[in-house]
Amino acid sequence: MSDFVLNLAFVLGVNVKKSLNKSNKKSSRDKKFWNKVAKFYSPAMKSSESGYKVLVNEVLPYLTKDMKVLEIGCGTGQLTFLLADKVDKLIATDFSENMISICKKNNECKNVKFKVEDAHDLTFSDDKFDAVVIANVMHIVPNSDKVLSEIKRVLKKDGILFAPIFTTDTSKFNFRIWFLEKIGFKVYKKFSDKQYIKYMGNNGIKIISANMIKSEPSDECALIGRV
Ligand SMILES: C[S@@+](CC[C@H](N)C(=O)[O-])C[C@H]1O[C@@H](n2cnc3c(N)ncnc32)[C@H](O)[C@@H]1O
Repeated sequence: MSDFVLNLAFVLGVNVKKSLNKSNKKSSRDKKFWNKVAKFYSPAMKSSESGYKVLVNEVLPYLTKDMKVLEIGCGTGQLTFLLADKVDKLIATDFSENMISICKKNNECKNVKFKVEDAHDLTFSDDKFDAVVIANVMHIVPNSDKVLSEIKRVLKKDGILFAPIFTTDTSKFNFRIWFLEKIGFKVYKKFSDKQYIKYMGNNGIKIISANMIKSEPSDECALIGRV
């Protein structure tokens, strides 16, 4: 092999390693934040409860009692406990150990298992799940492309993706983000509903529906797609 090819491979290798290190550093800083706020998360999301109930109705027509479902970034179980009895098995994951331990404490559903997992590096095998749920997470991960490729990897062909996200620019929502950013919260991508639908479509998700749902602190784009 020529020196040029060897040097090029070396430089590319170093750059890939550098960007992976950067992404890992961001992820561990984010994890610290979510571990710190875990005990405040349920009370902070109290005003969103009725919105979440309407939100899950969007995906119910696509879920059946024989499905194995993965949830990513489950928080303290806001959607987990609303979806559990609609499917066969639900594995709910989050990279925050504190979020997962609160979920375990509150869990009364026999078909739900909780697990600490980083969305960028899922430990599940390929084509394992009939559906993946990832609610209000895609905007706060440092590498959403990698997260989406992991979702596509673990979903079966024609599997369902339910990926709602807060999108609307309300002053209440922006104030909450501004305040949380002061204490370490990071939003990596600010999506409008149109940008989010386009982003998912450009990344190989066949959009089934993306209705706007009234919620607090902002409305949600209830995106449902297939891989
Ligand atoms: C805004 S909360 C959403 C929680 C819940 N899904 C909801 O809709 O209320 C974001 C959640 O994603 C988790 N999270 C953030 N980055 C993550 C990552 N890289 N891997 C796994 N979970 C992550 C946080 O710990 C937090 O529980």
